[in-house]
Amino acid sequence: MKYIIANWKAQKNLSDVHSWIEAFKSYDLSIIKNTHVVLCPPYPFITLVSEAFKDNQSFSIGAQDLSSFAPGKYTGEVTAHSLSGLVTFVIIGHSERRNFLKETPEILAQKADRAAAASIKSIFCIRGPQDAIPTDVPFIAYEPVGAIGSGKNASIEEILSVKSMITLPPQSMFIYGGSANQHDIESYMSSDEIDGVLVGTASLDPTEFYALIEGAERSLS
Ligand code: PGA
Repeated sequence: MKYIIANWKAQKNLSDVHSWIEAFKSYDLSIIKNTHVVLCPPYPFITLVSEAFKDNQSFSIGAQDLSSFAPGKYTGEVTAHSLSGLVTFVIIGHSERRNFLKETPEILAQKADRAAAASIKSIFCIRGPQDAIPTDVPFIAYEPVGAIGSGKNASIEEILSVKSMITLPPQSMFIYGGSANQHDIESYMSSDEIDGVLVGTASLDPTEFYALIEGAERSLS
């Protein structure tokens, strides 16, 4: 089973999300057999998206972040405790959060601990071998900064050469992220070394995202 993880980032409003769901669900989702799709909308839309896909085993919901704090008086924070039961996955340490929100390795390790304690599966993002990986995170997403949102997706050779420099937690899944799209998905899926993709831009449009899933299924069937 390979993972296709959609990261909508801080994009879309309520009406956009309704339209996305309607358009996406108009496609034949029964083709999804060898991939598992994880949808990570902004927090306000988690319940809406979750409800829309609750009867389809091929889909799970993820959050894009969680608080490093335990439940308490931290206005605006969203804790693992609050997310528990709402999401199966959480993205931690995306390079945009490291960069714009100044999240440190200590904060990220704390977040990974909070997620594990709440039985939420971390998708822990690293920019390269320089980024520490907390023990026992189940999913590692390697996202070279220059490949994110740039259209300059990394080649399999580049990804595998970085992978060889990383000590992955035992049994963890290795995910690639950075401008993955419907045109290059088959090459990523056909590598035994890559367990899935984290998709930003190409997940925003339902038609494009479905085409990416179709490509993935085609190469895995
Ligand atoms: P992208 O984003 O697919 O637009 O490059 C990937 C990500 O940042 O998770």
